[in-house]
Amino acid sequence: MSAINSDNISITPFYHQDTGTWSYVVTDQPTGCCAIIDPVLDFDLTSGKASFDSAQQLIEHVQSNQLKLEWILETHAHADHLTAAQYIKQELGGKIAIGAGIKDVQQHFANTLNLDLPADGSQFDILTHKGDSLALGESHFIAHPTPGHTDDSMSYEIAGNIFIGDTFFHPDLGTARCDFPGGSADKLFQSLTFLTSFPETFNLWLCHDYPKDRDAVARTTVAEQRENIHFKKSGGNPSAYAKLRNERDSTLSVPRLIYPSLQVNIRAGQFPEDESNGRKYLKIPFSLQKP
Ligand SMILES: [Fe+2]
Repeated sequence: MSAINSDNISITPFYHQDTGTWSYVVTDQPTGCCAIIDPVLDFDLTSGKASFDSAQQLIEHVQSNQLKLEWILETHAHADHLTAAQYIKQELGGKIAIGAGIKDVQQHFANTLNLDLPADGSQFDILTHKGDSLALGESHFIAHPTPGHTDDSMSYEIAGNIFIGDTFFHPDLGTARCDFPGGSADKLFQSLTFLTSFPETFNLWLCHDYPKDRDAVARTTVAEQRENIHFKKSGGNPSAYAKLRNERDSTLSVPRLIYPSLQVNIRAGQFPEDESNGRKYLKIPFSLQKP
């Protein structure tokens, strides 16, 4: 765990080993106002048991530093982990924000999973749009749509730092997949190009890292991501990138936690209602492959 200071903003990353996810606490130091980005709920798929151990680390950081939580920011509706946003809001307050494109994601998964869910984003406190400003003490985040991985993907810029969600991964690993509903390699290429248009010293904070022979990395820079293996291989050509991306996506399996994740994440972290026996259940769509 480390903190990096820049223009009175401190950033503390937290790594969730099971899903390779980075969560962040971002603090405006003069005022102690803070935001949590992409908090993770611990979830065991086999037993269906969830717990708050990882979320508790974020909460303890906020409490032990006597910070005031203003925002819980989701960079998108994640398909690889469940969000702890609702639990953190209950414990610390703050407003849960996500990109306005969440409505399309809700509509798709409400249909796929036959959920009784209004696809209007009302489960979240704030839906963010291009250029929105979210105050954080004496500073503020600016919302930048960065679609491609999903339609609701939003990056958040503050004081020379951008939390980029699933766009770039570590430069040696490439970029996010684009084969989810609403995903588009063409759109992701535009988002990657947009992110590399910032000054080369800007920090681009990753949503994930999946290291094999090195420690997990949270912070990259614009200069480093201009050399990203997928971005560079495309030679700045959108159709070359789309070809590379789509070929790679055709080899990827469905994420292990996609259905549990989406059922919780499109509800802003709220769990399904109890059924008649007092227990909650998560659905998996069943389909039979013909021999
Ligand atoms: Fe994702």
